[in-house]
Amino acid sequence: MLSQQTIDIVKSTAPVLQQHGVTITTAFYKRLFDEHPELLNIFNHANQARGRQQTALANAVLAAAQHIDNLEAILPAVVNIANKHRSLGIKPEQYPIVGENLLAAIKEVLGDAATDEIINAWAEAYGVIADAFISVEEQLYQETEAKEGGWRFFKEFEVVNKVEESNVITSFYLKAADGKPLPPYSPGQYISVRVKVPGEEYLHIRQYSLSQSPSHDEYRISVKKEEQTKPEGLVSVFLHESVNVGDRIEVSAPAGVFFLDTSKDTPVTLLSGGVGITPMMSMFETIANKQPSRPVAFLHGAQSENLQAFDEQIKELLPIMENASYKVLYSNEPDGGYITKEYLDEHALKGGDVYVCGPVVFLELMINYLVDLGYPLENIHYEFFGPAAQLEISH
Ligand SMILES: Cc1cc2nc3c(=O)[nH]c(=O)nc-3n(C[C@H](O)[C@H](O)[C@H](O)COP(=O)(O)OP(=O)(O)OC[C@H]3O[C@@H](n4cnc5c(N)ncnc54)[C@H](O)[C@@H]3O)c2cc1C
Ligand code: HEM
Repeated sequence: MLSQQTIDIVKSTAPVLQQHGVTITTAFYKRLFDEHPELLNIFNHANQARGRQQTALANAVLAAAQHIDNLEAILPAVVNIANKHRSLGIKPEQYPIVGENLLAAIKEVLGDAATDEIINAWAEAYGVIADAFISVEEQLYQETEAKEGGWRFFKEFEVVNKVEESNVITSFYLKAADGKPLPPYSPGQYISVRVKVPGEEYLHIRQYSLSQSPSHDEYRISVKKEEQTKPEGLVSVFLHESVNVGDRIEVSAPAGVFFLDTSKDTPVTLLSGGVGITPMMSMFETIANKQPSRPVAFLHGAQSENLQAFDEQIKELLPIMENASYKVLYSNEPDGGYITKEYLDEHALKGGDVYVCGPVVFLELMINYLVDLGYPLENIHYEFFGPAAQLEISH
């Protein structure tokens, strides 16, 4: 239990931290990796370079500090992050390392303003926040292990098939190398993949959504090759160019809170941009197999036909579905365009849940359109293909 005095200090200094949040976490990561370079095996280096992870961690610590006397209020956010941590294999003994370096960074940035009283209060508060994460994560590890074929941390998988889905997206079909059955997952969840890229000093982990329904006896991920950007995407290019049938990669068990609720039979709108189509494929195929009369609208935006994956697979499912529609808009083609508010008003299903996945700008636009059209925020579910960013949502 934190004392009232500690709670007061933490809450009253949270705005100062908010002001310096990103500077503090930048200093924190520098210290962390100087002292514990082995942690570079878990953190995404590109997110570091682009400052994305700094913002996510700053937001999380601040949100937690503002609710330090009532962490229950931010439980959904904790569960979401804990799922990511569980998927990355984060361990309890790593929390004090993060805590020590975070406090040292606060002291470094705030200088004399960070009195012993303030630092001690934050140390205590960090302990409480860390315990909350550790206990949610332990629960998730135990649930994962308890499933048939379940495991903790990473396990070797073999690539059993590799299929080109479009000019930029390739699917990898994966089976456990020990031949054990695969634990079931919820449609929309992701796995983490850990690879050793030749020439790289550290291991690299990336998340990929499972792109088919859980009814199959393998996991399928579908990866976009990040080659048009500079620098190129490390893991996606490695998977495309160097990982082939018979090769092995390490995988952690399915995780994530972005999934289709199959206990409902209310309408579903699936709204995706680019490679954000992957979790939608799992949801759409699940509806086709298990809830063929459930109303569903699948709306997808891609740059062009050549870049779009799964068009045929979706069209093959449509005849077995009673209330399904599928629309795709190509932004770079003469008769194409972008998904607009008017388009959503016409084609998204009224009521029910909407699942959105795509680039951050796509998420922000779509969620704002949906809110303007009267969809309650609690019925709009979305997944970031990177660290959670803070979206500008009006209302
Ligand atoms: C929950 C979740 C689900 C996901 N599902 C999928 C999926 O189904 N399919 C899929 O394809 N992806 C998915 N992703 C994204 C995936 O995890 C990877 O982020 C993606 O494959 C890019 O990884 P990479 O190693 O190829 O690129 P990285 O090397 O991580 O680079 C990413 C981007 O950062 C840029 N960059 C790299 N280094 C720097 C630098 N020093 N400075 C500035 N910019 C830099 C690169 O140009 C590139 O655009 C998902 C992500 C999450 C979090
Ligand atoms: C209370 C302490 C912590 C908080 C508040 C916190 C918060 C966060 C947040 C908000 C994210 C982004 C989640 C997302 O992708 O949406 C994240 C990701 C991550 N966290 Fe933590 N975290 C904490 C402790 C730790 C510890 C102890 C480790 C292990 C060393 C760790 C390692 C990571 C890694 C590796 C990622 C993914 C980063 C990336 O791939 O860019 N975190 N954390």
